[in-house]
Amino acid sequence: MSESPKHLLIVDDESALREAIAERLADHGFTVEQAASGEQALDRLADFAFDIVVTDLRLPGVDGRKVIEAALDRYPDIIPIVITGYGTVKDAVDAIKQGAADFITKPFQFDAFLHVLQSALEQRRLKSENAYLRSQLEDRYRIDGLIGRSRVMRDLFQLLETVAATSSTVLITGETGTGKELAARAIHHNSPRRAQRFVAINCTAIPETLLEAELFGHVRGAFTGAVATRQGRLEQAHRGTLFLDEVGTMSPALQAKLLRVLQEREFERVGDSHTVKIDVRVIAATHSDLAKMVAEGTFREDLFYRLNVIPVQLPPLRERRDDIPLLVQHFLQRLSAESARGNVTVSQEAIRRLMAYPWPGNVRQLENAVERALAFSHGRSQIDITDLAPDIQNQPVTVDSASAWFPDDGVDFESYIESVELSLIKRSLERTKGNKRQAARLLNLKRTTLIEKLKRLEPRGELPKAPS
Ligand SMILES: Nc1ncnc2c1ncn2[C@@H]1O[C@H](COP(=O)(O)OP(=O)(O)OP(=O)(O)O)[C@@H](O)[C@H]1O
Ligand SMILES: [Mg+2]
Repeated sequence: MSESPKHLLIVDDESALREAIAERLADHGFTVEQAASGEQALDRLADFAFDIVVTDLRLPGVDGRKVIEAALDRYPDIIPIVITGYGTVKDAVDAIKQGAADFITKPFQFDAFLHVLQSALEQRRLKSENAYLRSQLEDRYRIDGLIGRSRVMRDLFQLLETVAATSSTVLITGETGTGKELAARAIHHNSPRRAQRFVAINCTAIPETLLEAELFGHVRGAFTGAVATRQGRLEQAHRGTLFLDEVGTMSPALQAKLLRVLQEREFERVGDSHTVKIDVRVIAATHSDLAKMVAEGTFREDLFYRLNVIPVQLPPLRERRDDIPLLVQHFLQRLSAESARGNVTVSQEAIRRLMAYPWPGNVRQLENAVERALAFSHGRSQIDITDLAPDIQNQPVTVDSASAWFPDDGVDFESYIESVELSLIKRSLERTKGNKRQAARLLNLKRTTLIEKLKRLEPRGELPKAPS
């Protein structure tokens, strides 16, 4: 079990109570974030894997139950604790049924609260030593093998479903490992062609000289070694779907032939003059920028437009970090089933590192990282940071990990930057017990600059004052 400080989110619209608890928890070694509303809490939970969330049940707007539901949905291992008003035991019981670890009734002494917190932590430790039954991934977060819950992925699922109903040509673009092939299969499996074949051909994996025969087939004697007539992939995909992977690497001669297939739905086998009619849906994929290749003259413009009838773009994983916990859970379930290991969980600390890492190899790289971590966990029931590869372990995690992440709804740039300034200044003043000269030194700012900033920011939040 890691000795790192526990990250706790406290949600209460009563700022005095919230801040008093936050301050005292910090004294007890917790790293505390505050949210003044349910909405704010959901935002914070979207991009950070807290260990504990403490929430008032009665909140205007999004209430405490919703906060707990969202927290558990995203992080099954989070510890939710509710604060209830006097005489509302029923609410507390409901919250427990919903998955809250414990509750405390207002008004309470801090020590009683701390006790509730510590026993919940202890219980969780015991629980994760046993196998922890994982909830199955829900259908609403997947289409075929593609998993995701971020806004971009949910929009993508919708697009894929719409596209699947048609026979239009689709061009899938995206960095390596973003799920282009999975998306192509999802389209096929949701299309009226699903009972027919999905035939994939990777244009880079096959030597240029063989690609044409592979795609269009050949007749006997068409070239040396063509001892019999053979069907090409195109014919195999008749009435089904042909997936042309890495289409950007096709030679100009083949590009011309493919264009004809798309325009006329016909072709000839290599060495044959007989024209074959075909009914095939084409899905192409590429990790290169075809529009740029068109501009550079290395890819046919007319073919590009024929392929790009419906563009589908897969976002890199670093732009949808909020999908990481779900993906990790998905891969763990699959891998632990394969290796016949019991249910394995991941510590929140490890999840935080995984969410902070930039993932140049995208989902494939994450999948490999989970597999490695599982192997390194040597049969323990929980994966911890030490099981992660060194570069992921050493990925700095800040509570403001939003620095590399962009929320679905966008941000208000000015106020976001101000909130970062405010939080740094607050911390420096806390550290120096309100001494501005020392705080300025910690921030590498001139004292006058700090004072100017304070004047501007002071109305936005309570900054610690120097003892008078
Ligand atoms: N959204 C996702 N949900 C679940 N698994 C995914 C997702 N995206 C990718 N994967 C997994 O990541 C791996 C790579 O996916 P895929 O082969 O579809 O990527 P790709 O974009 O075709 O990559 P490349 O450009 O390298 O060929 C596969 O094992 C796939 O199962
Ligand atoms: Mg691929």
